[in-house]
Amino acid sequence: MINRRSFLGSFAGAALLARSARRAVAEPAAPAHPTPGWPPAVFQDDETYWRELRRQFLIPADEAFFNTGTLGSMPRVVLQAIADDMNQVAGTIAHWDYKAGHPDYISGYNPETELRTALAALIGASADEVALTQNATLGMNYVANGLPTEPGHEVILTNLEHPGGRMGWELKSKRYGIYVKQVTVPVPPENPQQLIDLYVNASTPQTRVWSIPHLTSGQAVRFPVERMCAIARERGIFTVIDGAQCSGHFQLDMKRLGCDAYYSSPHKWLLAPAGSGFLYITSDKLPGVWATLASATWDDYKAGAYRLMQIGTGNRSMLKGYAAAIEFHNRIGPARVEARIMSLANRLRAGLQQIPQATIHSPTHPELVSGTTVWSLAGYSAGDLMDGLWNRAKVRCRSMGDPLGVRQCCHIYTLPEDVDRTLETVRQMVRR
Ligand SMILES: Cc1ncc(COP(=O)(O)O)c(C=O)c1O
Repeated sequence: MINRRSFLGSFAGAALLARSARRAVAEPAAPAHPTPGWPPAVFQDDETYWRELRRQFLIPADEAFFNTGTLGSMPRVVLQAIADDMNQVAGTIAHWDYKAGHPDYISGYNPETELRTALAALIGASADEVALTQNATLGMNYVANGLPTEPGHEVILTNLEHPGGRMGWELKSKRYGIYVKQVTVPVPPENPQQLIDLYVNASTPQTRVWSIPHLTSGQAVRFPVERMCAIARERGIFTVIDGAQCSGHFQLDMKRLGCDAYYSSPHKWLLAPAGSGFLYITSDKLPGVWATLASATWDDYKAGAYRLMQIGTGNRSMLKGYAAAIEFHNRIGPARVEARIMSLANRLRAGLQQIPQATIHSPTHPELVSGTTVWSLAGYSAGDLMDGLWNRAKVRCRSMGDPLGVRQCCHIYTLPEDVDRTLETVRQMVRR
């Protein structure tokens, strides 16, 4: 028989254990409330600004997070927007009377014009050309599935595609007999022309689509998309760009890029909640793309890209978070975000280049670089390098497997000392 005290004791012990286990996993630095007024409307170009900005994220101060290429960390304002809206939906749902003027409590059945307008402004498009999706994978599948093709038509893509940038075409190939032609990218490429030549040399009169990664996932190869789209356009080839890694990372202007379609996952670099995506299709090509999912307005061609977002019930609160992420990004300024990311990544690359045992596998040509660096360390497998950085210095990179090593994405929550800590840890690991 267990007496009351030992029962309570074991209960308290279990609770304590559970708490310390939770702490071992992760403990946010402070409550999730945003600091009022952050980011401020007026940008202050100094380290104090970036240091205060760092405090708008829940990542503990002693942890350096470099895996934005998988999923970004939402700032406090984004979390707050989601939580506030969820509370409102749950608490006032009985007031929803479906009458005109009362907001819907779900997403999926209205065009979300405000959010699409903000997104369109960010990427240099019009709201009618932008569909909300859950991620890049949906965007690419909507294009592959929706573009009319005939057996024998060719789609060109690379050997470096993420499955989310490739499999829609593979499915179409198996089902409808199109030919998916894969070009092999040298890693790292030496210059942009090499990448252009791959697509040009592989094209034939049967080529209908160039499917181009703007920035590849595993090797961080940045493609000269603007130049490639111009060439494709002259040849009447449809261009669809995998920009999963690019919104919130590079400044984007769809009209300047000149692509026919572009999809992305703003839950990575734009720091939106997981499940935030978009698909852009230029207005003159939009009517030529079939909807993949069908609900009320799938066949209403006056609805623009809204025709391609017929997903049924979705989570309205996540869209509030998505909108807050765009606003957060705009308050800092897309150009400043990109410049900050690039300066940190250049600091990292310059430091790694001073360490003879380190090899950078991502490009170093100035037109092909990004905020992501993929590098390895002699004597360490990719997995051991990832674990070594984390166990010694709480530096979170992601293993890309051998021989690539780790992928390290610098972002606005990276501080210069996080980069320097990485380099110091590498020097220690060389000494063992
Ligand atoms: C280049 C690229 N394309 C597509 C995807 C798929 O993104 P999602 O899982 O958000 O659909 C990723 C994800 O990492 C990616 O890096």
